[in-house]
Amino acid sequence: MDALRAELQGLNKFLHLEKANLDILRGKQVGPAEVDGLLAYYLKTILSLTHTTVGSILIRDGDQFVFRAARGPGAQKLIGKRIPESEGIIGGVAKSGKAHLSVNVRGNRRRSSINESTGNRPRNILAAPIRNTNGVIGVIELIKKSDGNPFTAGDKAMIEFLAGRLSLDMEYADLLAGSQREARHRVMQMKLSTVLNSTLDQREVRRRAMEAATALMDADVGSLLLVDEKTGDLFFEVALGEKGSRLKEIRLKMGEGIAGWVAAKDQPALVNDVENDRRYFRQAGVITKFVTRNMVCVPVRSKGKVVGVLQAINKKGGGAFTEEDLENFMTLSHQVAVALENAHLYGELKETFVNTAAALAAAVEKKDPYTGGHIKRVVEYSSAIARCIEGDAGDLEQLRLAAVLHDIGKIGIRDSVLLKQAGFTPDELETMRSHPLVGADILAHIEQMGEVRRIMRSHHEKWNGSGYPDGLAGEAIPLHARIISVADAFDAITTDRPYRKAAGLDAAKEEIRRHGGTEFDPLVVAAFVEACETGDILISKE
Ligand SMILES: [Fe+2]
Repeated sequence: MDALRAELQGLNKFLHLEKANLDILRGKQVGPAEVDGLLAYYLKTILSLTHTTVGSILIRDGDQFVFRAARGPGAQKLIGKRIPESEGIIGGVAKSGKAHLSVNVRGNRRRSSINESTGNRPRNILAAPIRNTNGVIGVIELIKKSDGNPFTAGDKAMIEFLAGRLSLDMEYADLLAGSQREARHRVMQMKLSTVLNSTLDQREVRRRAMEAATALMDADVGSLLLVDEKTGDLFFEVALGEKGSRLKEIRLKMGEGIAGWVAAKDQPALVNDVENDRRYFRQAGVITKFVTRNMVCVPVRSKGKVVGVLQAINKKGGGAFTEEDLENFMTLSHQVAVALENAHLYGELKETFVNTAAALAAAVEKKDPYTGGHIKRVVEYSSAIARCIEGDAGDLEQLRLAAVLHDIGKIGIRDSVLLKQAGFTPDELETMRSHPLVGADILAHIEQMGEVRRIMRSHHEKWNGSGYPDGLAGEAIPLHARIISVADAFDAITTDRPYRKAAGLDAAKEEIRRHGGTEFDPLVVAAFVEACETGDILISKE
């Protein structure tokens, strides 16, 4: 009856083991710790099923075996210890791929690996290989039955069977870890792609590409080298990470260094021993004092041409880059190429638009010989003031565009009024003062110019509400309009007019300052004064 109960208990434990992999691995990110958990569980069950008190599981790592699980007195200190693959009974089992059973052997010639460290002097040893298609990947070793009896053929059959199951479970853990890793990379790549493509600013795309390279490759430093279209050289546009910023100084000739080789050959490079790679450009390490251990480097292609090289340097934690890293990096480089191309196209489009706007503004300016160069100066002064504004001065490109276009409405003012310098009749004055509205009307059909229109319309408004066309006051006037208003006035004061001579910088500054709080926003005037004092605003002769 007792024997039957013991059998049933054994069966019960075995059934538990059946779902051990699920219980231990399910819902977890599988790594070495989870595999150790699986091994510990197996060992505990094996010892229990074979009524054994001391045992261990060793797993192969290269040409050594590592104790990954151990039970019995003093056995814990074995964990992590390594033995050569050919040593002792473990070595014999690994070599033959067959189980070993010694019964009542004194002074076993092929000693157990466990006895030295634990003080056990086993006379009975049972060891079985854990095999997969690649050969022996580990060994289960049992050395002492609890009743002091030798191991039996039944124990041997049991341990061999369980070694087979363990091998399957380890393979399952491996597959799970692999697919989880892949899923993590997919998710990360999707995130990185979103981040890369959520801006059209070229500099920002480049910065994000660096960050993505560092994060995806789990590297210390990431960098993006771009091909200089004129010289064909490669240069580090940005570099992040510790000491990374110093890489900005470096230029490589096409073909020079590992990155240069990648660009010239249009091929990726995975180098885990940089020091011994003859392509390595030592100068870079000397300049940066940065020790490059390993790197992965891929070309960035746009329209079939190499436009740059994406580089990740030094795998974190002292590890090596893998073929899988390289594949993931290639995918990232495609995404970076698309984001760079989009940003480049957008930049070109914007530049074309700004140039067209500037040409249009210049055509208007040409009508009035006294205001030559006015637009250019207002753009300069406005930008200088914005740089000195305390707090956020907003989108400076928008400010520049609004400054270029601010007087475009003058195109609709008849010459007889526009060219008159003084002595306007009330009607003429009204016509003249319509130019902010005419300008806003011109841009009415360009949806993207909504804010620029608002700024143009308000550039003659005054802080105290006495301006035109809407009589807006204070912060109801867009900040950029308040800035252009000061820049516009400063240029008018400092240029010759038929009815008066130009004022000098100090006099003009005083006049603007005097109107702070009435005509002009005091905050903008303060920024203007600071820009004058730091030399950011000088009277431009152009
Ligand atoms: Fe104006």
